[in-house]
Amino acid sequence: MNKVALITGSKGGIGSAISSQLVADGYRVIATYFTGNHQCALDWFNENNFNKDQVHLFELDVTDTEQCAKRLGNLLEQEGTIDVVINNAGITRDGMFKKMTYQSWDDVLQTNLNSLFNVTQPLFAAMCEKGDGRVVNISSVNGLKGQFGQANYSAAKAGMIGFSKALAAEGARSGVTVNVIAPGYTATPMVEEMKPEVLESIKSSIPLKRLAKPEEIAKAVSFLVGDGGAYITGETLNVNGGLYMH
Ligand code: CAA
Repeated sequence: MNKVALITGSKGGIGSAISSQLVADGYRVIATYFTGNHQCALDWFNENNFNKDQVHLFELDVTDTEQCAKRLGNLLEQEGTIDVVINNAGITRDGMFKKMTYQSWDDVLQTNLNSLFNVTQPLFAAMCEKGDGRVVNISSVNGLKGQFGQANYSAAKAGMIGFSKALAAEGARSGVTVNVIAPGYTATPMVEEMKPEVLESIKSSIPLKRLAKPEEIAKAVSFLVGDGGAYITGETLNVNGGLYMH
């Protein structure tokens, strides 16, 4: 395997599991981390016993259009190819819409949706020229069903799905697939931040009666970017324990 995969938000709950899975699959992983978080990224790198051939830590503010164009352009020259892009970076700023500030709306839209332009655009043309590439965008069950207290997050996560279908249509003629994974509630620090009683009530409504493990989301990514996913594009793969069937 001589393929390179770039993963945003790589040391978060789901991102970390995806990074480990793709390293195990034989990819060289470009693991992006948010500006200023170098020590934290280094600790994550060491805790996972990665080596520098397996994982290249890469500082990137996914909300900064100019910085992404410049740094990802340079990265592409340096690496020669980026075969797989996983847009995984995401944040929540939950609150009822009537109390929501524009700042928390904008923060979520910038990080969860505008980042797809910023990160994918500088890399997509090279994938098309090469005639091979995979983009996987990590959305959410809440982008499909809507969630009380998440007008910002649900809007961004739904937007990712429309973006992915449009890009899939453009990439298809060049052998580039674009898909979405819509995880349900997953055992990560993001979900652990929720009020325990709210989380308990959501958990009891999941038909499989438990949270997803981050590794279960990572396995779905591995499938989509691997040989098994070659004929799938513009699709949303739900990994949600049956929480939403549509
Ligand atoms: N449907 C209808 N009404 C609801 C409701 C629901 N799902 N949830 C809460 N309410 C009602 C409450 O009963 C309450 O009513 P009263 O005022 O009559 O008592 C009112 O709405 C206010 O609810 P809270 O007390 O919870 O309000 P709050 O301001 O303290 O908290 C909130 C608001 C932070 C949005 C909280 O409701 C919440 O955490 N909701 C869940 C948000 C969520 O699912 N976040 C997921 C984060 S993880 C993630 O996003 C990953 C992923 O992709 C899945």
